[in-house]
Amino acid sequence: MNGQPWRDVDGQLIQAHGGTILGHQGTYYWYGEDRSQSAFVAAGKRVVPFTGVRCYSSSNLRDWHDAGRVLTPASDPEGRLQVTSVVERPKVLFNARTGKFVMWAHFDNQDYTYAGCVVATAEAPTGPFTVHDVLRPNRQESRDMTLVQDGDQAYLCFSSDMNQTLYFAQLTPDYLGLTGFSAKILVDQAREAPTVFHAGDWYFTITSGTTGWRPNPALYSRSRFLFSGQKLIDNPCMGPTAATTYGGQPAAALAIDGRWYLLLDHWQPADLSQSGYSILPIEVTGRDLHVAWTQTPFGGEVNA
Ligand code: DGJ
Repeated sequence: MNGQPWRDVDGQLIQAHGGTILGHQGTYYWYGEDRSQSAFVAAGKRVVPFTGVRCYSSSNLRDWHDAGRVLTPASDPEGRLQVTSVVERPKVLFNARTGKFVMWAHFDNQDYTYAGCVVATAEAPTGPFTVHDVLRPNRQESRDMTLVQDGDQAYLCFSSDMNQTLYFAQLTPDYLGLTGFSAKILVDQAREAPTVFHAGDWYFTITSGTTGWRPNPALYSRSRFLFSGQKLIDNPCMGPTAATTYGGQPAAALAIDGRWYLLLDHWQPADLSQSGYSILPIEVTGRDLHVAWTQTPFGGEVNA
């Protein structure tokens, strides 16, 4: 049910928070943060451990099979990924030129002062992923982020400048680095949890405000161009719980069977492993967006 924790085919809680779902050759792959291990105290500090990015596969978007932790501290030969690292919001694209699956995720230290990305690659969608790089995109801070494919180009969209401004930065053709081209969108609007998609003549974003794990009103923006002219328009949610985005925060915009859906996290900060999910249909009417609450994932439109 939307808003609740979901279980895999073995009855275990799905640990794929802050993630995305990638369709590839008839199978769906759900990647996200594994939060199954509780916080511990080390040197007098509470540490939320990085145990891995987990992947699940499904043929019907309802029955999810656990493919295990596909990125862990052991995935980095250079040892930059530690159990004390923060790895959040993993996003994965398939690069048709190289035949590789490329993952970008927010990479940080426990106090979120590094503000960068980890880039990892795999030969198969279920990994294992190997760390290619840890970087700050174009030497800028990057916290909440997502990946956007637009034609044969791909972009990193990230919250920067102390989370005040969203940027797009173009990825190199192999998706492993940055070309140096970047553009600011939503300047000084303090948006995070970015999701980006193209429908009809418009490029849309749906983002959250910056209140940590606490839900706040989502806002959508639109422009006819990907990286210029984006303007915040309104909250796409409706009804009494619109002000908290139905208790959720955007994780990804999902394209399934020619329709767009919004994947939300329902964070439980006291025990992140218990955080829930929703997948809600995005109604696109010309240049306007609405995201209605539905009890059933995909609004019952997909057999999930
Ligand atoms: C809000 C972000 O959207 C989450 O991914 C996470 O980084 C929390 N902040 C941490 O407080």
